[in-house]
Amino acid sequence: MKASAKAPANIAFIKYWGKADETLRLPLNDSLSMNLTGAHTITTVEFDPALIEDSVDIIGGEFSEHEKARVIKGLTRIRERAGSELRARVVTKNTFPKGAGSAASASGFAALTMAGFAALGTVLSEKEQTIFARLGSGSACRSIPDGFAVWEKGTDSQSSYAYSLHPADYWDIRDILVIVDKRMKKVSTTDGMERVTTSPKLAARLNAVPRRMAVIREALEKKDFALFGSVTEEDCLDMHAVMQSQVPPLRYWSPVTQRIMAHVVRLRAEGIPVYFTIDAGPNVHIICVGNDEPRVAESVMKLPGIEEIIYNKPARGAHIVSTHLF
Ligand code: PMV
Repeated sequence: MKASAKAPANIAFIKYWGKADETLRLPLNDSLSMNLTGAHTITTVEFDPALIEDSVDIIGGEFSEHEKARVIKGLTRIRERAGSELRARVVTKNTFPKGAGSAASASGFAALTMAGFAALGTVLSEKEQTIFARLGSGSACRSIPDGFAVWEKGTDSQSSYAYSLHPADYWDIRDILVIVDKRMKKVSTTDGMERVTTSPKLAARLNAVPRRMAVIREALEKKDFALFGSVTEEDCLDMHAVMQSQVPPLRYWSPVTQRIMAHVVRLRAEGIPVYFTIDAGPNVHIICVGNDEPRVAESVMKLPGIEEIIYNKPARGAHIVSTHLF
């Protein structure tokens, strides 16, 4: 009745911003991401007939009442699918700052889904697991499959799922995650996305994403890093243009974020193939090939205002682990 799972955070190169269905978390567009070795969640779930209510704890941090309620909703979906009424104890641990735009909810709901079903002995296909993870947090579906994952937007709950396009060892690219602010972001992705239709730039982005998905698939297929990086940066800037033109505007970048972006552009002008991408927060993901990681990291480290650097390679997806947190 007890199981633990480890799930990676993921970084989207073609990003998800905006929902077609709020409750089902159906996205407005397809997205593509890579799982990260340096940022993950471990979660232990135990269903116990002696419990009268669910309990949810995070080691080294604190969940808000709202976050606890979201986890309990996830448990309820798992119980309904598995045909159980048992209450559970959930303990979770992150290796990176929660809420700082580094996809803690993605790894969190991927780990909860996998550990929850395993604890009840219910075997689900990978596709179905991605659907349950998506219902907790959209981008969580991409943390279930290995390596480089595509999330098809679909038209209903069953057709909106993620799958692995390439395994983790397919391509040695790196994500140097530069943390500039560990605090919780002010506007959550759920709240921010609700206003997406107020952006006059949304239609143009939705129109551009199918082409970008085709380009990034081709870039991955050919291992063409310049093509890969440029379409990644293009989509990042476009998503932030949508965010910044929403009403009210969402500005996630800090002055340090912008300094790092400028630094990446400078390195590129000096001949190093390196690109950035940024989620709903001020932290910057710097993408380069394996051989260039030391020199890129060395130059970035010297910039003022950096709190922490997390080094990532492509990671495998969520999986069961034998060590429990309690
Ligand atoms: O699934 P959420 O609510 O964590 O939203 C993720 C949104 C972005 O990180 C900004 C983009 C993405 O595709 O991961």
